Amino acid sequence: MQYVIYESAKEIGDAAGKIFVNVVKQKSDAAIGFATGATPLPTYSYMISEYEKGNVSFKGITTFNLDEYCDIPKDHKSSFYAFMVDNLFSKIDVKPENINFLDGNASNSEAESRRYADAISKAGGIDIQFLGIGRNGHIGFNEPAEAFTDESFKVKLTDSTIEANSVYFSDIAMPRYAITMGIGSIMKARKIVFVATGESKAEAVRDMIKGEVTPKCPASVLQRHGDVTIFLDKAAASLL
Ligand code: F6R
Repeated sequence: MQYVIYESAKEIGDAAGKIFVNVVKQKSDAAIGFATGATPLPTYSYMISEYEKGNVSFKGITTFNLDEYCDIPKDHKSSFYAFMVDNLFSKIDVKPENINFLDGNASNSEAESRRYADAISKAGGIDIQFLGIGRNGHIGFNEPAEAFTDESFKVKLTDSTIEANSVYFSDIAMPRYAITMGIGSIMKARKIVFVATGESKAEAVRDMIKGEVTPKCPASVLQRHGDVTIFLDKAAASLL
């Protein structure tokens, strides 16, 4: 797999952000897959600054986020929906009705998975997907497992993920379950922009790029995708 190493997260954000902005300039009704967490923030900042400068409009796009926690209200401050509104959606001209999320409180997660897959295909499939990586190699919330997953599903989060994401929960305990797009759905995106920064990701990045393709490192499946752009900082690339 090819990858590019940058000095800083800000430089990666500018480079990754440019790819998203160019996709939207070429296809104003693009369907975009977004991720949450610390990694995409510099990319989102770049997209916001291009919007503020009048260089791009997002009013035609449709968005699909990768995942959402179960058992917390959609508008709780630690939900992924709230994260996206705070860090991107409220700062650009995306139409609220074009924002799509998996419902972490759906009573029937299989029906919810079908609803999401239908919405994605109605939008014409995801044109470009942002991906970060967990310390354990997860993408979305596809945790290390015995087999690759397909469409969206409800997942029990691992201790590693709970430890990493607990910092986002101050008033309530972090949920133990989430609903996530599966590996099959992620792999259908036409284009993937993958970003990893920081030393805590170095082992997962090494396993993803140099290791065998295995559900024990879910990100390794990206070796089989034809259009992945990988941006790393020096720390994340330190074991390559
Ligand atoms: C969240 C998601 C996760 C994160 C990963 C890294 O929507 O898809 O796979 O990308 O947990 O999180 P950060 O960027 O906070 O290190």
